[in-house]
Amino acid sequence: MTADDHLPLAVLAGDGIGPEVVPVAVEVAAAALEPHGIVVDRVDLPFGGHAIASHGAPVPQTTLDGLAETPLWVVGPHDSASYPDQLRTPPPGALLRTRFDLFANLRPARALPGVPATTPSMDVLVVRENSEGLYADRNMAVGAGEFMPTPDVAMSIGVVTRAATERIAVEAFEAARRRRGHVTIVHKANVLRLTTGLFRDVCLDVARRYPDVRVSQQHVDAMAALLVRSPDAIDVIVAENLFGDILSDLAGELSGSLGSAPSLNASSARAMAQAVHGAAPDIAGRGIANPVGMIGSVAMLLRWHGDRTGEHRVTAAADAIDAAVAHASANGARTADLGGAATTADVGAAVRAALSEVG
Ligand code: IPM
Ligand code: MN
Repeated sequence: MTADDHLPLAVLAGDGIGPEVVPVAVEVAAAALEPHGIVVDRVDLPFGGHAIASHGAPVPQTTLDGLAETPLWVVGPHDSASYPDQLRTPPPGALLRTRFDLFANLRPARALPGVPATTPSMDVLVVRENSEGLYADRNMAVGAGEFMPTPDVAMSIGVVTRAATERIAVEAFEAARRRRGHVTIVHKANVLRLTTGLFRDVCLDVARRYPDVRVSQQHVDAMAALLVRSPDAIDVIVAENLFGDILSDLAGELSGSLGSAPSLNASSARAMAQAVHGAAPDIAGRGIANPVGMIGSVAMLLRWHGDRTGEHRVTAAADAIDAAVAHASANGARTADLGGAATTADVGAAVRAALSEVG
């Protein structure tokens, strides 16, 4: 076997339901790559509450070193609210996005076959800017852009730059070309005139390079209503960080369940599969968490790698995972959040079994 036949994946299980859904997703990836002669080399790294116990920090140096060496990561959610106060900020996921400049957060939302959804016809991709915007934790060279001049007054700084907006707009327009050719720019330029106004204007500048892509714009509040009322009218949404965070939860839940919503965080050199959902401590440890969001995130990770390297076997494995998830879902492998009774392990096994049927 040659070196090309091994695919290293950094695996950070995280908190809450992370140690339940992450291994299932990695097993599905291994099963999808195996028929193509590719072996997953799993590199487990400490992360989250377990890493606080073992290394004194949620993201220890050894994890940062391991991630620097591995371009493909599978990362679970974190529950920073449960950490000791001095270790709560920045949240571990934010630290990884900032440290490795994972500026593009791609969050598709589409209903699965057989799953009751509020908006069954939704097929939307939220392209969320991940490096600045209204997220105060990544807006200053030192410290956070949030402060309290008096105990009764709290202030926050939002940052929008031309460079960061331009690169996320390019991601959105490129994605639209591969989809239905329509980008909706989300802003709130009637109130946040300078920051979200710059975001809108830079996106419109980038739009001129894509005359084949249709452009619309919406205020973020109207966008939330439109997602419920006319999801068919939306293809790709491009939004600053906080707006994209909120709209992607909404789109995920409308299309069936937040637990099924996948997400990829990418730079030009690295990508992190991390589902849209959080750590869900209320159901952790019971084996009932929905692994589909995490499995779909890993499919996105493999597709990103396959497209970037021209390694068609990896792209084929990603396509097979998506088809197998749809197949398993149509055949009733659904967790409680989707109205079913399957366990996390049941869904993983059903998806692995479906791989041979769709392959
Ligand atoms: C997400 C999460 C994170 C975020 C939290 C946990 C800091 O909600 O990935 O969407 O807001 O970015
Ligand atoms: Mn979120």
